[in-house]
Amino acid sequence: MASSPSFFFVLVVMVFALVNTASSQSLYPTFYQRVCPQALPTIKKIVEDAVQKERRMGASLLRLHFHDCFVNGCDASVLLDDTANFVGEKNALPNANSLRGFEVIDRIKSAVDKVCGGPIVSCADILAITARDSVVALGGPTWMVQLGRRDSTTANQTAANIDIPSPFLDLPGLIASFKKQGLGLRDLVALSGGHTVGFARCVTFRNHIYNETNIDPRFALALQGSCPRSGGDNNLSPLDSSPARFDVNYFKDLVGKRGLLHSDQVLFNGGSADGLVKGYSLNPGAFSADFAKSMVNMGNIKPLNWQ
Ligand code: HEM
Ligand SMILES: *[C@@H]1O[C@H](CO)[C@@H](O)[C@H](O)[C@H]1NC(C)=O
Ligand SMILES: *[C@@H]1O[C@H](CO)[C@@H](O)[C@H](O)[C@H]1NC(C)=O
Repeated sequence: MASSPSFFFVLVVMVFALVNTASSQSLYPTFYQRVCPQALPTIKKIVEDAVQKERRMGASLLRLHFHDCFVNGCDASVLLDDTANFVGEKNALPNANSLRGFEVIDRIKSAVDKVCGGPIVSCADILAITARDSVVALGGPTWMVQLGRRDSTTANQTAANIDIPSPFLDLPGLIASFKKQGLGLRDLVALSGGHTVGFARCVTFRNHIYNETNIDPRFALALQGSCPRSGGDNNLSPLDSSPARFDVNYFKDLVGKRGLLHSDQVLFNGGSADGLVKGYSLNPGAFSADFAKSMVNMGNIKPLNWQ
């Protein structure tokens, strides 16, 4: 009996499962290579088109993956609308009237399902690949995206409100927020470099430009022109001096006290992150390498997989 094919099969499956649980790495880049080789090129094309149409879309798509991963792992819960059973994350404080790009993700999902002949690629993996392709389309580094995430069927608005860091946090609060996700100081600083692209609403930085002293006064004054003391909550300003390009200007701006958000400037304010910020501002290669590494780390937060 011990040599029957079914016993052998069970043994192989058990060994495979053991190896997979023993290694912390249950995701791998070639997950879809055999079952749908056209998946990744299809996603890349749609992201490139969307970014060509509007550069900011690349920033918005990068942020979607971040806001997915920080709430119970990268499981696409951020995409779920409210149901009778749960209140979704879309209307959580950090997301409502702020997250963008859902239509692009929907378009990608339809195209990928079509080219794969069915729902093969998970939405969580689509968000991870789309984030990478967006960074590349905006001139940033590339990396191998780990794949094989499974999608959640529930979402948790309370968790989104608690776990997505607020722009009003000080450095210890930011460090604690990232630590809760298993991410360290280097991840925090490198990933905050995501603010090298995109925009923020007046309501998220008003207090910083009117009430705080760790800001270049001319920079603050210029921002006050489009972000009044009251009203204009949704008026946009760029997160760094070149919001359409993935570069190190975000870090150069922080060194010059021209960070837009309170949570940006606290990374260069005499604390433990100063060295990393200064280093990235002077060394684009170091930022690129660390950003890529930290995106993989963020993509590994509590993945649901198929075991
Ligand atoms: C460190 C803690 C972080 C805080 C407190 C924070 C906060 C914010 C806030 C307040 C905005 C503006 C939202 C609005 O005005 O509607 C924003 C935008 C953005 N964030 Fe973050 N963020 C953080 C980390 C990250 C990370 C890790 C990434 C990605 C790696 C990221 C990517 C972005 C991008 C690309 C935008 C611009 C989006 C667009 O223009 O549509 N952020 N962030
Ligand atoms: C949602 O998240 C909150 C905060 O983490 C937690 O206390 C609560 O139990 C979660 N709800 C569900 C249904 O999992
Ligand atoms: C400045 O700080 C004060 C005191 O905390 C607060 O009441 C006021 O709303 C702040 N002003 C702006 C423009 O945020």
